[in-house]
Formats: sequence, structure tokens, C-alpha cells
Amino acid sequence: MIKPHGSTTLNNLYVDNAQDRKDALKRAETLPSLLLNSAAAANAVMLGAGYFNPLTGYMNLEDALCVAETMHTKSGLFWPVPVINLTNDAGNIKVGDEIALRDPNTAGNPIMATMIVETVEVVSDEQLETMAQQIFGTLDPNHPGVATFLNLGNTLLSGAIQVLSYSYFKSDFPETFQTAREIRDEIKQRGWETVVAFQTRNPMHRAHEELCRMAMERLEADGCVVHMLLGKLKAGDIPADVRDACIRKMVDVYFPANSVMVSGYGFDMLYAGPREAVLHAVFRQNMGATHLIVGRDHAGVGDYYGAFDAQTIFDEQVPQGALEIEIFKADHTAYSTKLGRVVMMNEAEDHSKEDFILLSGTKVREMLGNGIAPPPEFSRPEVAEILIKHYQLEDSQA
Ligand code: ADX
Repeated sequence: MIKPHGSTTLNNLYVDNAQDRKDALKRAETLPSLLLNSAAAANAVMLGAGYFNPLTGYMNLEDALCVAETMHTKSGLFWPVPVINLTNDAGNIKVGDEIALRDPNTAGNPIMATMIVETVEVVSDEQLETMAQQIFGTLDPNHPGVATFLNLGNTLLSGAIQVLSYSYFKSDFPETFQTAREIRDEIKQRGWETVVAFQTRNPMHRAHEELCRMAMERLEADGCVVHMLLGKLKAGDIPADVRDACIRKMVDVYFPANSVMVSGYGFDMLYAGPREAVLHAVFRQNMGATHLIVGRDHAGVGDYYGAFDAQTIFDEQVPQGALEIEIFKADHTAYSTKLGRVVMMNEAEDHSKEDFILLSGTKVREMLGNGIAPPPEFSRPEVAEILIKHYQLEDSQA
């Protein structure tokens, strides 16, 4: 099986035993505590679940700056995006303290982790902007990732963590949220060797579905893990429970049994395009996938990235051997009315743009909002039906 990133086995920062967890939580109630922001809480979930192997906690400033600039930690570990805990209110927390980390996304802010504080450092606005520019390629405050990042705070707390809860992900998505360790185990149990991972933050339309099918066929894969983001998104994106229902329906109806695992991870979307694609590759390797599909405008938003920047970064900026997982690159994919099937556009000879069914995200949202299903060449009718219901419910609650 493919090795985790940076170590031979996955580290485990989560306290597995229920009684030990209970005891640790009780003890943590006596510690000084810090209310995390959502980004730091999502980092804790990813660390605890093994996705961010071999990291053991939050990075210090030197590592964060180094990762943002060079995609490596100071000690040379390949890592694409800083994994940090920034705050505006560190209170009296000082180096050497053991502290409890509280969950901002669950009522009552329960403790989700403990941490031994290794450094407490002030990050200047200039340093935050430098990192944001390097991670997102822009400082435009209209970019949702930049806006979030620049408002996380100016005090950075680093240190090793022990994770005691996966926030709301296990309770809200009991069927779908899985840790990297659980996915590895399931892949092993299924006897899959070549495993394609599909990243998504959308209900899957025909292009998404066919990308999985094409990758599986061309790579002669044993299976595909559709791995959806379950954390926070920008306003207007489809909520995770609705997406989950769409994806499960599509997989049930249109894929052979036992060929696709539907799974999810607890992280907020960064919208960092190419850098996020590399992070996606790291954590799919950790969960045991041998390939990650990267198509058009992967993890992008607006017009901030070139349509295939998230592919070229792997050729131009990821050193040979830094990752074991391979990238399945896909061109813009759409239904060809000439061929009567979904194809990669660069593989469709003698086609003009008019020969494809192309709909913008805005157009699709508008149609669904008006109760109109997009053409079946674009969306499976079963998926469209779930989405129309979602928009109707949203309207009735507005
Ligand atoms: S993402 O932010 O998670 O990347 P989305 O869920 O829409 O957004 O895309 C999931 C994956 O499918 C990404 O690799 C993306 O590049 C790819 N993709 C989505 N739509 C298309 C398309 N029409 N053609 C090619 N690739 C696509």
C-alpha cells in the first residue's frame, strides 16, 4: 500500500480509547483554554484524523513562513500550506503551558484538543500578507480565502496537540466523515491497490461523474474514493448534507456496487487553487489513494487562477519524489452532442464550442432555483431533483 507522507506509518494524535478520552477531557477542563477560530479547529480535525501526517501539531512562525515561501518546513519536510493556530486573544498563555483548545463550531465551545505550547509569537500584518500572497497568489480582500486568512489574528501559538473530538463532523455526518486511518483500513480490507481519489465541494454533475469513470478506466483502478469537503464554504455553495445526498444517489444509481467509496473530511475550503491542490494530494496519499484527479480550476474561485494552474504546480513546483501519489490530469470535460457522451474537450476532434453542453455555475444555480432541472447531459435527473428540493426549502425559509 502507498506510504503515508513523510513517515512509514500514520501517526495517531487522536485519543482512540473512549475512557481515556473521557479522562483526558476531564483533566483538560482544569487547563487554561483558548477558543480556536474555525481554520485552526479544522487543522486540529485534520491532524487528529491522520490527514496531516507526519505533522504533530501547529507550526511555529519560522516553519509557517518557510512553508508559505518554499513549500517545505525548516527541517525540509515537503508541505504546501502552513498549518497554524492564529488568535487575537492569547490571554496569559505562555511557552510551556498545557492548554485546552475549544471548538468554535459547536454550541457551548467544548474542548476538542489539548496542546503543549512551544512558542507564542507575534506575526506582523506584513508577514501575514506575505504568506497570503504566497499561498493564494493574491491579496485581493474579495478572495474568500484571503479575507479569512488575514483576519485570523496576529498571535501564533505552536505546539504538539492531542485531539479529543472531531468537532461536529462525526455527529453530523456519521456515514460520511472518515479519518485517514479509517479510509486506509477500508481500502486495505477491500483489497484495492490502485485507488483514485476525487476531491469535491460540489454536488457531482455529469462531468464530475465521468472524470471518476475515466480515471478508473484509464488507470485500471480497483476503486475510487469520492472524498468531499464537509467543512465551511463560502456563501452560496451547496451545504454538505445536500451534496452528500446527491453524491450518494448518483453513486448508487450509476456506478457498479463496491467500486466507489463515498467519504468526507472535516476541513474548511481555502479556495487556494494550486496550493490547495497540492495539500489535497498530500492528504489523499495519507488516506491511501494512489492517484488524485485534478481537473479544471481545481479548488479555485472566481478568476484568480488559470484553469490548469493546479496541474502545472505539480510539474513546476513539487520536487521529484516529494510525493508518492500521482496526479490524474483532466482537461475541461463536458457532454459532446456530436459524440453523445461526456468527453475531455481536448480529446474531441473537429469540435467547436457549440458542440458541447456548457453551463456556468451561475446558470445552473439559477435554473435549479427556478425549479428547472438542467439537461440530463449536464446533471443526472436524480441529482437535479435533490438540488431543486434544496433550493425550494431555502426559499421557503428565506
Ligand atoms: S473543487 O473546489 O473541489 O475542486 P469541484 O467539486 O467542482 O471543486 O471539482 C472537483 C474536481 O473536479 C476538481 O479536480 C476539478 O478540477 C474537477 N472538475 C470539475 N468540473 C470539471 C469540468 N467540467 N472539467 C474538468 N474538471 C472538472
